Amino acid sequence: MRADRRVETARALLDSGDHDGALSVLEQTLELTPDWPELHFLIGETAAASGCRDRAVAAYVRYLSLSPGDRLGALPHLALLGATPLPDGLPSAYVAALFDEYAPRFERSLLVGLDYQGPAQLLQAIEAVRGPNASFGSVIDLGCGTGLVGERLRRRCTWIEGVDLSVAMIAQADGKGVYDALHVGELTDHLANDTRRFDLVTAGDVLIYLGDLAPLFEAVTRRLADGGLFAVTAEAAETDSTGVDRRLRPSRRFAHSADYLTRVAGEHGLVLHRHERTVLRRDGPDAIEAHVMVFGRAPADGRPRTLAPERPELVQHEVPEDQAAGHHDLGGQIKHAEMVDQ
Ligand SMILES: C[S@@+](CC[C@H](N)C(=O)[O-])C[C@H]1O[C@@H](n2cnc3c(N)ncnc32)[C@H](O)[C@@H]1O
Repeated sequence: MRADRRVETARALLDSGDHDGALSVLEQTLELTPDWPELHFLIGETAAASGCRDRAVAAYVRYLSLSPGDRLGALPHLALLGATPLPDGLPSAYVAALFDEYAPRFERSLLVGLDYQGPAQLLQAIEAVRGPNASFGSVIDLGCGTGLVGERLRRRCTWIEGVDLSVAMIAQADGKGVYDALHVGELTDHLANDTRRFDLVTAGDVLIYLGDLAPLFEAVTRRLADGGLFAVTAEAAETDSTGVDRRLRPSRRFAHSADYLTRVAGEHGLVLHRHERTVLRRDGPDAIEAHVMVFGRAPADGRPRTLAPERPELVQHEVPEDQAAGHHDLGGQIKHAEMVDQ
């Protein structure tokens, strides 16, 4: 209890902006509870906020030694501090805990608070490739969350299932009765252990938790039917002059360049049918720019089954005026989209 009270005091100091004072109280608390994982994590966060990088790194490393599952997500912090290389993805236990906690308010927060457009943009891109009445046999929705993508696709398919790391998100999706089957699990592992083929695979706002996309694209290609589609959104990064084409952002989400996505897809036998640049959602005052991409697996006869126009076209996404706050730096709420030649 004494340790708890000290942590409360430290949190109050943090809230008031006194990072150094909070760090000092937390260091004293270590004398009482030297093996409390959460205390080391909090010291890591506080030391980083105080500019004490080496102390932060040591604290996160100690946290990981006490809590190797990394439920609080020390690994991405270490990478952001430059202490470790870019991780291949975020720890599963961290993502699951994050969304288990977030699930009850996820939709209100995303749809109302952050103006999340992912499911609509995915469907729009799929329709642009397959036509306005596009329909599919079997669909798997990766990182299905509460089922926002499933809701859009339900009447377009005969079978749709979802997979997600978070039990609480899956429970929300289950409550909607939209999916024919739901699975709790890591999406790449899930696909790798499956033996069926799907006509459409979707991943809405999920690649942001994966750094290295090669294992995912490999697993998707194996499970995609001939002529099947893989539709994704991804936070957009640009490839820089040194060739860096994916980044971990301070938000602890990954962003990928279009070059990276297209290259990795190509290495696994998928071709790009459509690429749009959009505003996916907001993050506080910032508009999050994204790629919406539809990849296809060439059918056995080698001809892509697509109804996409032959010439590139410009697509505009307008944000309703009453939702436009915060997008002013993005050219009047209209982002362009580019069409990829077939
Ligand atoms: C931002 S939500 C998006 C949910 C839904 N696709 C949508 O568009 O509303 C991301 C979801 O992906 C899940 N997720 C993240 N990484 C995952 C992984 N590696 N395997 C399975 N699910 C994952 C999270 O648990 C969360 O429910």
